[in-house]
Amino acid sequence: MRSVTSYYNKNVVGEWKRLVSNPYCRLELETTLHFLDKYLPGKGLVLDAGGGPGRYAIELARRKHKVILLDISSASLEFARRQTNRAGFEGEIETTKGSVEDLSQFAANRFDSVLCLGPLSHIMTKRERSRAIRELVRVTKRRGILCVSVIGRLGAIVSHLEHLNEHIAYPFFKKFRDVGDYFGQYRFTATHTFLPEELRMTFKNQKDLRVLETVGLEGLSSGQEEKVNELAKNRKLWKAWLDTHYKTCTNPSVVGMSEHMMIICRKL
Ligand SMILES: C[S@@+](CC[C@H](N)C(=O)[O-])C[C@H]1O[C@@H](n2cnc3c(N)ncnc32)[C@H](O)[C@@H]1O
Repeated sequence: MRSVTSYYNKNVVGEWKRLVSNPYCRLELETTLHFLDKYLPGKGLVLDAGGGPGRYAIELARRKHKVILLDISSASLEFARRQTNRAGFEGEIETTKGSVEDLSQFAANRFDSVLCLGPLSHIMTKRERSRAIRELVRVTKRRGILCVSVIGRLGAIVSHLEHLNEHIAYPFFKKFRDVGDYFGQYRFTATHTFLPEELRMTFKNQKDLRVLETVGLEGLSSGQEEKVNELAKNRKLWKAWLDTHYKTCTNPSVVGMSEHMMIICRKL
């Protein structure tokens, strides 16, 4: 956990820019917001667990939600506070330090909606992930919405090909490929990547949750960063491609191949 914290403490600006750096990266942001707009009840109290530098918290405040942003990284929280003030939402977004594995600072059934966009992929054991999910469910109100996004294992493997990454021949790669675990030996930080069926079963097995939808956030564009960025220069073609993206991004095969996938659940 310490290495994850220090990674995000050192990479705050990179994380803030990550979702808007080009049209390919924006697909993750825009597709997530598209589905949050579809499922989140209007003007509720939202927990953005692992909200990092605050990109989604600010978007939610723009949509009239009140947000509590929780993160393990103090540097991200400080940055999020500055961005929040700059955007004029200091009254709408509160920040607090903590881990998704222990949300005891919040009462049960407190939030209309709970987001956990990223952190579950940095929790390295099944037991700890289960604990985090139980906590996320506990603080969600009955009939409330829980949205969780993670890194997809197959999409992450394809991205090694896309970037001609020599790591595919390194010893660690087999464990990453077969189990989904990467311990941050080279770049990035410790990460558990998910197969689509693993993500679905993890949430389907929670007795007080109903899975509403799973989404491939980059969808059919996954692993096609250069082509996507080129296509986006042509407005008409980009519009047509986005139409195809939204028509296909919930297809289970497309979800499975996506670099990032999101699952949307309702608490019963
Ligand atoms: C990939 S970033 C995503 C940030 C933001 N949710 C977004 O999508 O732009 C992952 C974030 O989760 C945070 N994080 C990782 N493990 C966490 C944990 N156990 N509890 C809370 N936050 C965690 C990191 O500090 C980082 O800010």
